[in-house]
Amino acid sequence: MKRRDRTLITHAGNDPKNNKGIVNPPVYHASTVLFDSVADMHARGRDKFNNVHYGRYGTPTTFALEETVAALEEADRAVAIPSGMGAIAGAILSFVGVGDHVLMVDSVYEPTRFFCDSQLKRFGVETSYYDPLIGGGIAALIKPNTKIVYLESPGSHTFEIQDVPAIAAAAHARGCIVIMDNTWASPLYFKPYRHGVDLVVHAATKYLVGHSDVMMGIITMREEFFKQVKTQVHGMGFAVGGDDCYLALRGIRTLSARLAQHQESAIQLAKWLQGRPEVERVLHPALPDHPGHPLWKRDFLGSSGLFGVVLKPATVERVNAMIDGMELFGLGFSWGGYESLMVPSSLTTARTATKWDAAGPTVRIHAGLEDPLDLIEDLHALLDRQDDLHPVLDLVQERDLRGVGVDERHPREEELEHLGAAGEGEEQVVVAVGLVEVLQLLYDLESPFQVLLRQVRLVQDVEQGTHGLAPAGRNSALLARGVAALARACPAPAPRITVGLRNSTSSLFLTWSSR
Ligand SMILES: Cc1ncc(COP(=O)(O)O)c(C=O)c1O
Repeated sequence: MKRRDRTLITHAGNDPKNNKGIVNPPVYHASTVLFDSVADMHARGRDKFNNVHYGRYGTPTTFALEETVAALEEADRAVAIPSGMGAIAGAILSFVGVGDHVLMVDSVYEPTRFFCDSQLKRFGVETSYYDPLIGGGIAALIKPNTKIVYLESPGSHTFEIQDVPAIAAAAHARGCIVIMDNTWASPLYFKPYRHGVDLVVHAATKYLVGHSDVMMGIITMREEFFKQVKTQVHGMGFAVGGDDCYLALRGIRTLSARLAQHQESAIQLAKWLQGRPEVERVLHPALPDHPGHPLWKRDFLGSSGLFGVVLKPATVERVNAMIDGMELFGLGFSWGGYESLMVPSSLTTARTATKWDAAGPTVRIHAGLEDPLDLIEDLHALLDRQDDLHPVLDLVQERDLRGVGVDERHPREEELEHLGAAGEGEEQVVVAVGLVEVLQLLYDLESPFQVLLRQVRLVQDVEQGTHGLAPAGRNSALLARGVAALARACPAPAPRITVGLRNSTSSLFLTWSSR
């Protein structure tokens, strides 16, 4: 009887009846496998891909994992490999030789591009890249020696959705094999074999394992390709360890529950980001205004936790400062684990058949399993911080004031208080004004000297407030650096200026004193 996905996830690959009733498969650690006789050795060797024969060809733990993923993906067979990149290389190398040609989607995972442009090239295999939105138009690019049409949908970092059935039909009409990287959707949210794909690669490292603790790749396929792929993969010496297979299988048991939460949280974050003034557009195919949404709706069964955000134009420094300030979002490669991540996307050299023309920087977000409201709060703080930093950082940069005697340390609270205290013979005024007003003031003025003059005037106009400085937050430290740079760029004798913020963001204390 055909079982539904959530049932398959729970039971596939387990065999308690033949395992003393124990629910989970045992972890086999194996290299040598002993035979009863030479005849037995030969007999099992004749079908070594389907028998326990030697550690490299797999153990019952490996087979349990492979059987589970194949069942979920509606494939006939699966082969586990030590990483997602291994699965990609293994699948491609199974079908090409000298003089062949591969058609590769332009929005592919960048190391796949690197593999094609370096290793495949060295082996005499040519790769050309096609627009992910090409659809059936791919027919015009297929050459007599094209062996593979390779897809990845959505695109890496840019999230274009491909018309998989149209591309597969055109490829099959010319005898090409269709390979797809289905890591984003996992076998739960996209069923490649229903749409004409012949072989699928997964970075199981991501959602299948799901806990950021194992590198693993899986190729799934129709039976007709199994022998060729297994011969290639094991001929290259790839083999996975029993513990890793067990952890991957354990991860898969909770895939449906995890993925549902990743999906919900990512959509929540994406919608919230859409409403922020710093955001140009959100790259998430499940959002109705995403250009690939109609295709996503037609073909996919869900969306995962990974999406992109194009910010309004901003300097690299500004975006980096924002990312550096993250609390819940980690900065690191990979995704698909239980934790949230954010990385800047570097797309300048990653496209050759198309042009990525967003004016602002792009970041990639993975929504983990934290409470989405906490994630939104973290994003809120990040974007607010980015807003606070814009004018001063821009001013410092615009006027090329970087390095003009700027104190790179972030002053601590006590230091600021010390700096804020008036010395003997010093005049001091403390101004409490809104942060925005002061930044506006700094931003609008023409020269650093005028900035200071305006500050003095402002200071004289404002009622004298409390003496001293507010707690030093991260923002105040950066502001202090910006203003210190301005001060140093002024004609001597340079005044001493310090800046502090009260309650991190609400009001600004500007202490100006001169001798
Ligand atoms: C879409 C996609 N495919 C493949 C891979 C490679 O997987 P692995 O890191 O397990 O080699 C990655 C890794 O980030 C990926 O994002």
